[in-house]
Amino acid sequence: GVKKMQDSFGRIIDYLRISITDRCNFRCSYCMPPEGVPLLEHSEILSYEELLRVIRILGQYGVNKIRITGGEPLIRKGIIDFIRAIREIDTVADLAMTTNGSLLADRAYQLKKAGLDRVNISIDTLNTKEFSRITGGGQLSDVLQGIKSAMNAGLTPVKLNVVVTEVFSMKDLSHFIKQTYEFPIVVRFIEYMPVGRCGVKAGSSIEAIKTSINTAGYGMLEKTFNIKGNGPAYYYRLPRAMGVFGFITPMTEHFCHTCNRIRLTADGKIKPCLLANKEFDIKHALRSGTSDSKVAELFEKALQGKPLHHIWGNEREGTNLIRNMSQVGG
Ligand code: GTP
Ligand code: 5AD
Ligand code: SF4
Repeated sequence: GVKKMQDSFGRIIDYLRISITDRCNFRCSYCMPPEGVPLLEHSEILSYEELLRVIRILGQYGVNKIRITGGEPLIRKGIIDFIRAIREIDTVADLAMTTNGSLLADRAYQLKKAGLDRVNISIDTLNTKEFSRITGGGQLSDVLQGIKSAMNAGLTPVKLNVVVTEVFSMKDLSHFIKQTYEFPIVVRFIEYMPVGRCGVKAGSSIEAIKTSINTAGYGMLEKTFNIKGNGPAYYYRLPRAMGVFGFITPMTEHFCHTCNRIRLTADGKIKPCLLANKEFDIKHALRSGTSDSKVAELFEKALQGKPLHHIWGNEREGTNLIRNMSQVGG
């Protein structure tokens, strides 16, 4: 049988999140400090060929779920061909992308045709002004177009990622409730992770949001298990609703015991945990003729550095993470 990737606590790792660029056309205040971060040179970032090789190698160890992140992945040149090339790797069972959605209207069909299965789209408020404020100038209408195109193109289930910050309002919540009632979308509320000195305050608690949904007059949320996904969300449906809600609670109720993930940064570092600073360079190995089995060994070694759970945020206020979210891809 196939040898699996496993960490030192026996968790099977079958989900690779690849950040293909640190660049973004937005400046979301929970993702990047307002002054921005120094950007990588093109030569510093892993090439598509290098990434495809990693996907092929890890595929031999059972890593069959791939998510492309950024920065904003759709701003890297050649993304459509890259998706097509990943799709040709037969170990890849689920191929998804996390995007801000602003460039999706034009590309959704091509992405689907190239073999992308589905997208998760960040959208933190439905108020045009507040949206522009939190994204540092983003146009809400572009993202709404992107969401439509994604649904029409069949990049489904389309999931909306709502990081609950100070710009999230009860008015937003009632819009999202109506939308999930009428359309087959998945709206996920995500607890803000206060990473990297970002100037934004957390919003309502996930509990408060659940309570508001339950008292909105549509009936009570019911747990549902048949939503395609590999991440930490729990899903609920209102009776007779087309769509679904999801909740992600990295802070108040972390899900680390179920962690199945490993990350690769654009600059070629393996990151065993989103909320820990430890990272392992792979770029040098990829650029100096290292064999496939030695590359796999580097991943296995990195996994030995994966913590049982994060110790960051609530439990140990003040612990500093070196990277911003934009440099990891969430
Ligand atoms: P699905 O396969 O659709 O379930 O995707 P996903 O939830 O794994 O990916 P996405 O990029 O949409 O992430 C949603 C939110 O969950 C983001 O805020 C991520 O930062 C957060 N998240 C995803 N994986 C982890 C993780 O391993 N640890 C923590 N703390 N947060 C995570
Ligand atoms: N806390 C929670 N989620 C975040 N994301 C980015 N920064 C944060 C943060 N500080 C989310 C984005 C995107 C996903 C990759 O991670 O909204 O959807
Ligand atoms: Fe996994 Fe670290 Fe996220 Fe916990 S915080 S779920 S260990 S990546």
